[in-house]
Amino acid sequence: MSHRIYNFAAGPAILPEPILKQAQQDIWNIADSGIGIMEHSHRGKVFDRVYQETIQNCKKVANIPDNYHILFLQGGASSQFFMIPMSFLSKDRTADYIDTGSWSTKAIKEAKRYGKVHVAGSTKEAKFAYIPTGDEITYSANPAYVHITTNNTIYGTEYQQEPDIPAGTFLIADTCSHIFSKPIDVSKYGIIYAGAQKNLGPSGVTLVIIRDDLVEKANADLPTMLDYRTHVSKGSMFNTPPTFGIYIMGEVFKYILSLGGLNAMRKYNQEKAALIYDALDESDLWELPARADCRSLMNICFRTASDELNAKFLEESMAQGMSGLKGHRSVGGMRASVYNAFPKQGCAVLGDFIRDFARKNG
Ligand SMILES: Cc1ncc(COP(=O)(O)O)c(C=O)c1O
Repeated sequence: MSHRIYNFAAGPAILPEPILKQAQQDIWNIADSGIGIMEHSHRGKVFDRVYQETIQNCKKVANIPDNYHILFLQGGASSQFFMIPMSFLSKDRTADYIDTGSWSTKAIKEAKRYGKVHVAGSTKEAKFAYIPTGDEITYSANPAYVHITTNNTIYGTEYQQEPDIPAGTFLIADTCSHIFSKPIDVSKYGIIYAGAQKNLGPSGVTLVIIRDDLVEKANADLPTMLDYRTHVSKGSMFNTPPTFGIYIMGEVFKYILSLGGLNAMRKYNQEKAALIYDALDESDLWELPARADCRSLMNICFRTASDELNAKFLEESMAQGMSGLKGHRSVGGMRASVYNAFPKQGCAVLGDFIRDFARKNG
């Protein structure tokens, strides 16, 4: 196939086309250096420039205060599931987790290895159809931290605002599947982390934004590579960092800034998601597992009551150049992941296809 099709995959996912074109050149020869980006030493001048620019542009994109460090780590967001409790929990302390889906559940499992876990709120009984709020959340007496998953990739729900947390603790957010899709007030968080492969770049690099007092507060005597101090003190270069991933992330930050920043991203993402949700809301054929006030702008989950019709939808949409619409294997149905880089035109095409399918099969 010589042309590109609409890629609704949940991650690794679509990247902005201008970035892919620029990368083609830079893989061959970046900044007239005669060497491609993947071949440059992480300690050389050319990569250093890429790295510094990436940090500066990340700060600009999210208006990150000066008392935060920006790290590029490896091991995926899944490694943050254990690095966090390893650093901030102990056998005599409790961390509070809000359980809003499979990824929160995985984070909870890892935390239990290092200390006590209190599930401060959970929508498991409601098949994770919504985000708990208000009196559905009860914190422990003195939590070491509060952990949330701000967008639930598998269930298609999203926090609309941060939960209030008790004084004296700090908020940690797994933001993998919607980071930088809308404005974020970084100062409300102690740590924000996200694997790059949905909204930021290729797989293999995890962005970690960590407040400086927490770096000092972290448990000592950890394996060197699992200690945030190592990565802060060495600027993510204690070992060889994922240079290509950092380069692409830097291009993505420039791209977001060129589009007008996170306010513009939110508007664009709202318009895109509406093209799909509106089409789904028009027919009773569709079941949307996420409660309307918690719907994700990034991962739109839907299905019909019939496995056969779901399979037909996937087959026919694929034949029309739409790939990656199969829901996560744990929930089935369909899921359209429309991250920042996904074009509005593709959302309109899916919206039309949904209407047409409902007309023929409803
Ligand atoms: C919300 C969320 N958290 C964590 C992960 C795991 O990320 P990684 O594969 O980078 O470990 C994912 C991956 O899809 C995710 O969607």
